[in-house]
Amino acid sequence: MSTQRVLVVGASRGLGLGLVARFLERNWDVTATVRRPSAGLTDLAARGHLRIQAGVDINDDEAVTALRVALADAPDFDIVFVVVGVATQAGTPIAALPRSVAGMMFETNAISPIRFAEAFQKRVAPGGLIVLMTSKLGSVSLNRGGGWGSYRASKAALNTLARSFVGQHAKAHWGVVLMHPGWVRTDLGGRRATLDVETSARGIVTVLEGHLGRSGYVFLDYAGETVPW
Ligand SMILES: NC(=O)c1ccc[n+]([C@@H]2O[C@H](COP(=O)([O-])OP(=O)(O)OC[C@H]3O[C@@H](n4cnc5c(N)ncnc54)[C@H](OP(=O)(O)O)[C@@H]3O)[C@@H](O)[C@H]2O)c1
Repeated sequence: MSTQRVLVVGASRGLGLGLVARFLERNWDVTATVRRPSAGLTDLAARGHLRIQAGVDINDDEAVTALRVALADAPDFDIVFVVVGVATQAGTPIAALPRSVAGMMFETNAISPIRFAEAFQKRVAPGGLIVLMTSKLGSVSLNRGGGWGSYRASKAALNTLARSFVGQHAKAHWGVVLMHPGWVRTDLGGRRATLDVETSARGIVTVLEGHLGRSGYVFLDYAGETVPW
């Protein structure tokens, strides 16, 4: 079997960095993007087939276009995985949150991942996957407590935009996975989270390897369980 290829978008730290390590462990050929050089990612480059593309801010259309140009001669990807996400002042109720912060969260978590997926969908190999890191907090039906309202809404928007994206590409030869990584100890997840990065990332890679070749869309967690919309 030929080497499988993944593009990991947002790999400087946290889950993105952990996913790069796990894909390398599984002998995938990895291309990873960051905004700024990351020591953790540079260290991983010594371990296997890893190409690093810096300067990729997902909210910057010109940077995304430059990435597409830089990767034009590379073979297509079996997985394009947008990991990027923010939870800036997520605990602040929406009425008290500066509009600029709410807008930036919506742009980074919902609009830009879909624009990135659109920009790279032609670079997904037949039977491949576009994976968007979402959250169980983006599930509308599971929202009982309501906390982290702006973050929840941005991920709910991502889920809805992803379903529309699939609808707009009905004949696509790829599928879309909306992935909930669990509650993970990262800068975003905090120290009280129940999972370490390695456990979550290893689970995600296993789930995705088992999902290759399927079209349509699914909302799954790192253990392969379906998450209600
Ligand atoms: N941790 C959890 O418990 C949890 C649970 C559910 C879902 N998630 C989701 O999982 C994903 C990764 O989260 P994490 O916990 O690993 O968070 P993290 O440690 O805070 O990492 C966030 C990543 O996103 C990148 N990023 C932020 N804004 C960006 C932009 N405009 N352009 C490019 N990259 C940008 C960061 O890059 P810089 O280093 O340049 O800032 C960093 O690599 C997010 O989508 C998050 O919503 C996490």
